[in-house]
Order: sequence, then C-alpha cells, then structure tokens
Amino acid sequence: MATMNHQVRLASRPDGIPQARHFALVAAPLPEPRDGQFLVRNLYLSVDPAMRGWVGAVANYSKPVAIGEVMRDLPLSAALGVLGMNGVTAYFGLLDIGQPKPGETVVVSTAAGAVGSAVGQIAKLKGCRTIGVAGGAEKVRLCRDEFGYDAAIDYKGTADLDAALGDACPNGVDVYFDNTSGRISEAVLRRINKRARIVICGTAALASWEPWPQGPRVERHLLVKSARMEGFLVFDYENRTHEAVPLLAQWVRDGKLRYREDILAGLDQAPDAIAGLYRGENLGKRLIKL
Ligand SMILES: NC(=O)c1ccc[n+]([C@@H]2O[C@H](COP(=O)([O-])OP(=O)(O)OC[C@H]3O[C@@H](n4cnc5c(N)ncnc54)[C@H](OP(=O)(O)O)[C@@H]3O)[C@@H](O)[C@H]2O)c1
Repeated sequence: MATMNHQVRLASRPDGIPQARHFALVAAPLPEPRDGQFLVRNLYLSVDPAMRGWVGAVANYSKPVAIGEVMRDLPLSAALGVLGMNGVTAYFGLLDIGQPKPGETVVVSTAAGAVGSAVGQIAKLKGCRTIGVAGGAEKVRLCRDEFGYDAAIDYKGTADLDAALGDACPNGVDVYFDNTSGRISEAVLRRINKRARIVICGTAALASWEPWPQGPRVERHLLVKSARMEGFLVFDYENRTHEAVPLLAQWVRDGKLRYREDILAGLDQAPDAIAGLYRGENLGKRLIKL
C-alpha cells in the first residue's frame, strides 16, 4: 500500500494567471483510514479555468483556497444540489419543456433557490432575458448580483406584483418556469405571449392539497395565447441524467453556473428543516452537515 499522499498545495497567491511557482508539490504521510472511512486512489485530476478564481484573494462564488491548502475540485456537497436533483431538474425542465430561444423572456419563481437559480443562469446561457421572482430584498439582490438575472422582483415586498412584472417584462413572457403556483403564477399568466411555454415544476405556494385550492385560473390564458403548460418530474429523466451532469459540472467549473448552499449543522436541525424552506429562510440549496 502507498505510504505517502502526494498533494498540490497553493504556495502563494498569484496576481493574475496562476503560474507553476504559485504551487508546491508536497508528499504528506498517508493517514490510516478510521472506522467508516475508506481509501481512494485518484486516477485523474481535473484542470479548469475556474481554478484561477479559486486561488485569487477575493471570494466570488466559492471561498478562496487558503495558502498552504490542498487544491480542491468541485465540493462533495454539489452532488446533492447543482450537480444533483436540483441542477438536473432545472436543466431538463427548462431545456426540454420550456424550450427557450435566444432573445426570449424567461420568468422564474423561487428564483434564488436551488432549482430557480440554476434555471435563471441556464436560460441566460441560452441567450434569454431572465426575470426572477423571489421573497425578500436579500434574495432579490442575490438574483441580480450572483445569478445574473436581468431583473428581479420581491413578491413579498412589492405592493403591485402585476405592475412590477409589466415593468420587468415589456415584451411579455415566453417561458414561465413555475415553482410556486398561487398568486405569482396568476400574475405571470396575464403576461404570457403567443405560444408561451409554462413549465410546472413545483407548487410551493399551495399550503394544502386537501381541500384542493382554487386557481390559478389558466384556461383562458392558454386558449387565447395558444400556449402550452406542462408538468414534469425529474424522475422522468432518470435515463438521461448523464446528459445533464457533465454539462452542469463544466458550467460550474467555468464559473458560468453559480450556486449557493445553506448548510445547517447537525442532524438535530432536520425536523424543522423542511418547514424552514416554506418560511423561505434558505439562501440557496438547503443541506444538513452530519
Ligand atoms: N418537478 C420536479 O421533479 C422537482 C424536483 C425538484 C424540485 N422541484 C420543485 O422546485 C421548487 C424549488 O425547489 P428547491 O429545492 O430549489 O427549493 P428552494 O427554491 O431552494 O427553496 C424553496 C423556496 O420556496 C419558496 N417558497 C416557499 N413557500 C412559498 C410560498 N408560499 N410562495 C412562494 N414561494 C414560496 C421560498 O423562496 P422565496 O423566499 O423566494 O419565496 C423557498 O426558499 C419546489 O417547488 C420543488 O418542489 C420539483
């Protein structure tokens, strides 16, 4: 068995493009795996332009690698979010069902959340104008500053959601990625264009399915705009996950797909964690670190 662990560590912080002198190859003693651990052998290391951002002094979408720290690859937790169910949901829901075209306007609800933030950025990568709808000033700031939405609306703080949507979408709405149903959907549906696509991904605003709530009242909007509304489950795409994950990972490495994580510490946080999502507390993908 190998006795040394060969590491690439950041030796000094580059001013510009990182050069070989900024890194040190270090052979460190290999710790014995403890109970519950196992040893892996790396066969390939990824090398990505995004690593330039990781070794800079300024945090952007991820914390800078510290001096003396081993260079990382994508964090493990991403497999549960942007490279897991949430990213795959965003990818197929938007691209397969929403079918956005360059220049079109895409509106996303829960726009700062795990699925929504990915939808907005993928739509932007496809050349669309993106409008996020989220709850609270901090989420609206995240939508604009981190997730690149062209405009963002705080549906909780806006007195007239209908007017705010009208201002943000002067050319109407071509794709609505609906994570909420409820009053946000009521307002967006009034703005849809001819042959709009409405992607039904989630119904976060519906507090109960028993009794079934009334609305949104969709039929007339779909009829007069020859529009299509279609629901989907990410599990419908389980045989195509391999198409999405490498692309999502590449976009993350290139800094084109940013994500946020909202990490709670310890299993005792679990019982209230779901309710917290419905209070809108999470800034990004909610995870529990065990
Ligand atoms: N179809 C599928 O296969 C599939 C797969 C995964 C997820 N989803 C759906 O995608 C949506 C987003 O999931 P996620 O994992 O990315 O969660 P998330 O957006 O990170 O977190 C949930 C968010 O829902 C919003 N919300 C909660 N109650 C609301 C209400 N009454 N009205 C409006 N918004 C409300 C909150 O954001 P605000 O603070 O902005 O209100 C909250 O932060 C969910 O509806 C989920 O069920 C569907």
